Amino acid sequence: MGFEQELERARSLVEARLGAFFPGDGLEEAMRYSLLAGGKRIRPILTMKFCQAAGGTMEEALDFGCGVEMLHTYSLIHDDLPCMDNDDLRRGRPTNHKVYGECVATLAGDALQAAAFRTVLSAGGKSSFRIGPARALAAEILAEAAGEGGMCGGQYLDTLGDGQPHTLEELTAINDRKTGALLRAACRMGVAATMDGMGVDASWDDWMAAAGEYATNLGLAFQIQDDILDATSTAQELGKPIGSDAANQKTTYVTLLGVEACREKVRDYTERAKAVLSRTSWAGETGFLLELADRLAVRRS
Ligand code: IPE
Ligand code: IPE
Ligand code: MG
Ligand code: MG
Ligand code: MG
Repeated sequence: MGFEQELERARSLVEARLGAFFPGDGLEEAMRYSLLAGGKRIRPILTMKFCQAAGGTMEEALDFGCGVEMLHTYSLIHDDLPCMDNDDLRRGRPTNHKVYGECVATLAGDALQAAAFRTVLSAGGKSSFRIGPARALAAEILAEAAGEGGMCGGQYLDTLGDGQPHTLEELTAINDRKTGALLRAACRMGVAATMDGMGVDASWDDWMAAAGEYATNLGLAFQIQDDILDATSTAQELGKPIGSDAANQKTTYVTLLGVEACREKVRDYTERAKAVLSRTSWAGETGFLLELADRLAVRRS
């Protein structure tokens, strides 16, 4: 199977599974509005592909991936609120608060966060009454990534810094938390999904570490590319507003280094991510993950 076909297969698994959640009206409609608005689904795809790399199947990790995507979607809904980036367009549609109001959008985000943990803890339709170590570990990884030491902590520093200058080191640390933490969780949860079937040995520890290191580099490349696109793309291509960072007086890699040096940084972090994968001995295929890193480095949306 070629890269495009594999990507499509992974994406359609995610879309079909996500579509089964939140069928109701009211708050569920607002949750569904953002969740099913057609994001790239990078995080659940990473979860499933790391499960395969560690010797499992995509299906085994599907609900873990959907949990990460719910958490990510909540972070986007809140990121767009007037009190944060104050943006009107997301995933090619008016932002959640523009359609449902700030109160409902806040609650839709909150409820998606809770649903993310429920989905991980009851993965595969099994109640947590019979919880296996894989689901407990995946929930722990996600909780650490989402909280004050990860995405929320990064968002706090990011918004607090509006209008303030940052050094490259400070900015890298913020990006690693606001964006890297969740990508890292996505990759590591994929490895975690193989735990119940095969147990934990030295190779498994190596995979967990390599998944984290790959994601750290991928995440830094990903946020720099996001900042480049904010300065150079169009809203139509991106599905979200351009110039949002400038409007919020954000210090970004682009403001510190300029676009050309940023492209070099994206290439550099991408090569580092690929090198980590290549020097680790995996139970399954990693060709897709290598190609994915390259594609993300030149993404236009
Ligand atoms: C956007 O994430 C927020 C960042 C972390 C830069 P994505 O670029 O993955 O957004 P979607 O999920 O495809 O909409
Ligand atoms: C936010 O970074 C990352 C999140 C944790 C949501 P940005 O604010 O740059 O993300 P976009 O550009 O709005 O997607
Ligand atoms: Mg933001
Ligand atoms: Mg934003
Ligand atoms: Mg951005």
